[in-house]
Amino acid sequence: MNPILLDVDTGIDDALAIAYAVRSPELDVIGITTCFGNVSVDHATRNTLHVLQQLGATGVPVAMGEAAPLFHPSMKTYPTQFHGENGLGNLTFPDPAGKPVSTRAAAFMVDQIRRYPKQVTLICVGPLTNLAAAILQAPEIVSLVRQVIVMGGAVGVAGNRRMHAEANIYSDPEAAQLVFQSGAPITLVGLDVTLQTKLRLEDIQRWRELDTDFTRFLADMTSYYIEGYRQAYRDPASCALHDPLAVAVAIDPSLVKVQPMVLQVDLEGIHSYGRTIADLRPRCTNQPNVNVCIGVDAKRFEEHFMQTLMI
Ligand code: BDR
Ligand code: CA
Repeated sequence: MNPILLDVDTGIDDALAIAYAVRSPELDVIGITTCFGNVSVDHATRNTLHVLQQLGATGVPVAMGEAAPLFHPSMKTYPTQFHGENGLGNLTFPDPAGKPVSTRAAAFMVDQIRRYPKQVTLICVGPLTNLAAAILQAPEIVSLVRQVIVMGGAVGVAGNRRMHAEANIYSDPEAAQLVFQSGAPITLVGLDVTLQTKLRLEDIQRWRELDTDFTRFLADMTSYYIEGYRQAYRDPASCALHDPLAVAVAIDPSLVKVQPMVLQVDLEGIHSYGRTIADLRPRCTNQPNVNVCIGVDAKRFEEHFMQTLMI
């Protein structure tokens, strides 16, 4: 068994990550926790339940999480340009039949990590608010979790939400800093690598040709995402596979090259609030706290992703 907990702010690429994880025989998704981020936590939860229903995976428990940043609850903005008002490219769909479990996300994480000590891989692809709340509730989980794979940050490249800050980290920088300094075994899958991985118009065309209910859903929502990329980055033909790459690292860590780094989140800078900053000085003697992905075999990942989602 390879128990996986996914923490999401569903979001189009989160939806792709959920589908990829659920459809990968190497992973056992034992639960999904939701957070504000791309959209409100209510939308993120509804979207997650919808994606699971589309996948025929309604047995996967969904636990609803935090609605706002832990320490600065008023700092909340949603990137509707990429994900639409509802998070799934404004596609309309009836309310899903499934409901979230009564346990809140942070408590659900703690329960699952305690239930499977040293076995659970936590894949976080939204703000780190739920995980920070879980660590505050039960600090021992940092030594009980097998690994934490975080989609977030921009160490050697520009940010996307701000000049230097990546969206997930910027959404709750204090939570991210708490997680990074917690001692948990973290792999950071940031923009340094995710921007090299693409979903292209040809891939969407392949989904359209397969023409199942699910591939039509994938094609419709990702068309919206590509349009966001066209407007923001003048890239008319592709979008980045941020969140799915974090799932891929759980499936096959050899897809990425990592470098252990001493990493901090800037919590004070006027221009750099939310920036992930590595101490790369040769004389730095602090113990590295994060394995940062610095290289990716993009082609091998993209092929595996598409192969898994031709369903
Ligand atoms: C991250 O931010 C969100 O918009 C995406 O879902 C992804 O998790 C990329 O910076
Ligand atoms: Ca996300």
